[in-house]
Amino acid sequence: RSRVQDRVERTLAMVKPDAFKHLGKILNAISQSGFRINNLRVCQLRKEEAETFYAVHRGKPFFEKLTTFMSSGRIAAIELVAPGAISKWRELIGPTDSNKARAEAPNSIRAHFGTDGSFNAVHGSDATDTAAEEIRFFFSQPSLGKCDLGRGTTLG
Ligand code: TYD
Repeated sequence: RSRVQDRVERTLAMVKPDAFKHLGKILNAISQSGFRINNLRVCQLRKEEAETFYAVHRGKPFFEKLTTFMSSGRIAAIELVAPGAISKWRELIGPTDSNKARAEAPNSIRAHFGTDGSFNAVHGSDATDTAAEEIRFFFSQPSLGKCDLGRGTTLG
């Protein structure tokens, strides 16, 4: 008998600039949790591209800080596949605010590698439609940003 949450899904995970140095450890956690990595791209986003990715937050007080941060260094965009991948990945990363994550989900990725409610190490899509859109954003735009910067990467 199949349950809705067991359906195979795709989600877009991102390792943000503050946690890029921990990419190796985060890939290990992904692998240990039973996800399949379908695609991975190392990029530095242009400011306007970060603004497009986070367009839903345009006009909010943290938008400028968020998009400056997200375009400040290399990120890894990772397409993950697993049964229930969207909620499974959000469970593994923990709450948005890393301080809350340390209190409520001490084994989560944001608890380990994030700082606060803005510099929180990783991203995860929140629904099937946004996951599809975010996967297209990274993997169907050959001209995206300064991409495929994986050479010379230290998997620290
Ligand atoms: P949001 O979509 O609410 O969280 P999540 O990443 O967990 O889906 O917010 C997007 C990002 O915006 C969040 O990861 C960090 C940043 N942010 C702030 O800097 N300040 C804030 O007050 C909020 C709500 C988010």
